[in-house]
Amino acid sequence: MRFAIAATLGLAGAVAGNLHPRSQESRDFFALHLDDTTSPSHIAQVLGARHEGQIGELDGHHTFSLPRGQSIETDTLLDDLRAKRKLRRRSGAIDTQSDDPLHGVLWSHKLAPARQRLHKRLPPVSVPYETLDKRKVDAQAAAAQKNVMSTLGINDPIFKEQWHLLNTLQPGHDLNVTGLWLEGITGEGIATAVVDDGLDMDSNDLKPNYFAEGSWDFNEGGPDPRPLLLDDKHGTRCCGEISASKNDVCGVGVAYDSKIAGIRILSKPIDDVDEAAAINYGYQKNDIYSCSWGPIDDGATMDAPGILIKRAMANGIQKGRGGKGSVFVFAAGNGALYGDNCNFDGYTNSIYSITVGAIDRQGNHPTYSESCSAQLVVAYSSGSGDAIHTTDVGADKCFSGHGGTSAAGPLAAGSVALALSARPELTWRDLQHIMVETAVPVSEDDGSWQTLPSGRKFSHDWGFGKVDTYTMVQRAKTWELVKPQAWFNSPWLRVHQAIPEGDQGLLSHYTVTEDHMKKANFAKLEHVTVTMNVNHTRRGDISVELRSPGGIVSYLSVARRNDNMATGYNDWTFMSVAHWGESALGEWSVIVRDTDKNENTGSFVDWRLNLWGEAADGSKQPLHPLPEENDDDHPYEDARVATTSVASSPVKTGAPENPDDHHDRPVNAKPQETPTPVPEPKPEPETKPDSIPTEDQKEPTNTSGGETASPSPSSSDYISSYLPTFGTSKRTQVWIYASFAMIVVFFIGLGVYFQLQRVKRRRTTAHDDYEFEMIEDEDETQPMAGASGRTQRRGGELYNAFAGESDEEMFSDDDEPYRDGLANHPERPSDDESPDRRQEKP
Ligand SMILES: *[C@@H]1O[C@H](CO)[C@@H](O)[C@H](O)[C@H]1NC(C)=O
Ligand SMILES: *[C@@H]1O[C@H](CO)[C@@H](O)[C@H](O)[C@H]1NC(C)=O
Ligand SMILES: *[C@@H]1O[C@H](CO)[C@@H](O)[C@H](O)[C@H]1NC(C)=O
Repeated sequence: MRFAIAATLGLAGAVAGNLHPRSQESRDFFALHLDDTTSPSHIAQVLGARHEGQIGELDGHHTFSLPRGQSIETDTLLDDLRAKRKLRRRSGAIDTQSDDPLHGVLWSHKLAPARQRLHKRLPPVSVPYETLDKRKVDAQAAAAQKNVMSTLGINDPIFKEQWHLLNTLQPGHDLNVTGLWLEGITGEGIATAVVDDGLDMDSNDLKPNYFAEGSWDFNEGGPDPRPLLLDDKHGTRCCGEISASKNDVCGVGVAYDSKIAGIRILSKPIDDVDEAAAINYGYQKNDIYSCSWGPIDDGATMDAPGILIKRAMANGIQKGRGGKGSVFVFAAGNGALYGDNCNFDGYTNSIYSITVGAIDRQGNHPTYSESCSAQLVVAYSSGSGDAIHTTDVGADKCFSGHGGTSAAGPLAAGSVALALSARPELTWRDLQHIMVETAVPVSEDDGSWQTLPSGRKFSHDWGFGKVDTYTMVQRAKTWELVKPQAWFNSPWLRVHQAIPEGDQGLLSHYTVTEDHMKKANFAKLEHVTVTMNVNHTRRGDISVELRSPGGIVSYLSVARRNDNMATGYNDWTFMSVAHWGESALGEWSVIVRDTDKNENTGSFVDWRLNLWGEAADGSKQPLHPLPEENDDDHPYEDARVATTSVASSPVKTGAPENPDDHHDRPVNAKPQETPTPVPEPKPEPETKPDSIPTEDQKEPTNTSGGETASPSPSSSDYISSYLPTFGTSKRTQVWIYASFAMIVVFFIGLGVYFQLQRVKRRRTTAHDDYEFEMIEDEDETQPMAGASGRTQRRGGELYNAFAGESDEEMFSDDDEPYRDGLANHPERPSDDESPDRRQEKP
């Protein structure tokens, strides 16, 4: 098969540009963005470089290469280009130097070799199947099932097991989709690309809907994204959830008449050029990109897509689907057990992605599903004794153990496919609006919900609630399209102050005025992002809140027990959807905390508030420029700063080691689960604990930008807590922690075994770039991570390896590179010349 693929390579290059593998051993690669008037071949000639081709669908972006021996020259060249551009920008003399042959170079970026930094979002624990009492079938739901099957002629053998489509044991705990099928809305005319480890186009369940035109294998370089590795099954299972056909094989997809494409990227290390191309592949034909992967969910990683991938996402949003925008759906992540949070993942916290967490068949919050302020909705997946039943790799093979947020994302993607088949003209933002408005809040008394000024409710655990596909598509039918997207960026606000340890936080304000909004052509708020720099000797100690003028709190980041990185936050952008529909006017506060009193300390350097929303006058609204690397060349303002003792969430009284006290309800929760809740001393009885401090309650604010006001004793004093509850009861938490401890001990032993195996394997694969990289990483981080960090991640790796796999798969992973990456990729090595300065400019 690989020979056949190799034979098609020539064609591949012609069709999709830069699709042939780049051999990084012998050459250095760099990307240039050229203006309309500059030809890549001319630039290649001037630089003495080889033009490798256009980068995916990114207009004007090309890859060039120079022989490895000239790498110093490459670096000098790129530095030179950057310096020249800076000079030009400073002098404002945009067009005066056109005699310079490199004048048309708008942007340059050196490319790092391919790495395995993306991981499938498999369930972290295998679930015990078949424990449900099948006798307790709800008569009404069973009758509805019978009716749907006979009316639509559904004869798929596992349809009755597909509780996520129609649940007869826990009525109401399903997508509520069958009513749409009965209306004839089945996804016709819409194509979803599953970006993953392959799609088995020979599966009889997927074959009828397979969309070859939208498919590509970026790992092998060829048109068929066929699963090749032994465990390349994840993508096919996701495909089945969306678009398994109504026939006599397995079950049906949510949108069973929609087209399904496969874009294979997860089965080998991949570089940013290929990933950028993948995320835009066939973007006029593929409507939705379903992505059940991301940086490793170990609670220690903070990783965002590189600048080319960010540009590709923005490109998909602006040009994909005829300008209505590609719809990116991302699984929130499975790291909740490790204290991970989806705001530490630059894919799930992008405003351009719909981030989907999980809910199980009994409506519980699965222990793996990550929380964060960027989570839009939840959809059904594994937990409470069952998982998602779907198609598998093999002609007629089905799978009953698909789970994790990996399985939740595709169900949301399938729901989007139905909405688009009913209303193809919806833009990417219309779809987010519709999901916000029609998601159904669940477990409303669990203390995680805030009621927003819009009247809707938001929870960091559940987003706006669970997807109700029927309601969503009904709303889509009559939805009035939103105006184009506007944005407002505050200046960079300089703080430069030490973060107090303990209950106090360092608070910085910024006031958004009517004038700001008017100048920005900004009418209605949607997403909020905060880009910030924090210096700290232990990143996992830091937590950050954003408080809106309306008193809504976004927990942008949480303290993470596994995160021992000594870097703090470097130009990191956090995102929140919690302020959707609020008024932007007034004072926004960012509060940075370091609640652990220990030897690790840090300082809050600077930040910037970015508001995104609907334009006031659509006709005057330009498109947002493509994301830039931050070059520090931007205006600063001194920030208004104060310390605050307003703590974030309910009281924690005991030592954090006690599982009973692990409350990480990020939200101003009722102290219901707290053994001895400390009442908030409130000077003013009418003040609600969750409200933003009013003028007289607020800490004295020193606007000089230099000094810190002393904390006010009159401020509300709720107690923060920072250890995960896993969204479960105390009893369950004790159980989880106890089991976890035992499992960790067990895996230490296994870990040692695997480590020995790995060392052995390394000797035999010394030529492998990727292996080589991983060893480096491991050596770098080991001393910092410490023993416990290592073992926890080792445990995580094995959880992942076991999840939903047969023994045969589990123990035959020797030639599957990504497995090795699961445990030890705590930090993306800084690969660009302006380290980690990746964020968007105004
Ligand atoms: C589910 O779909 C039905 C129509 O099939 C609709 O009447 C109902 O409101 C939807 N929501 C729930 C929670 O049942
Ligand atoms: C943050 O750390 C960097 C590197 O250690 C240092 O150069 C910088 O001065 C620090 N900034 C603040 C505000 O502490
Ligand atoms: C802020 O602090 C400085 C130094 O302590 C002081 O001189 C100044 O008056 C203060 N400003 C306000 C507004 O409190």
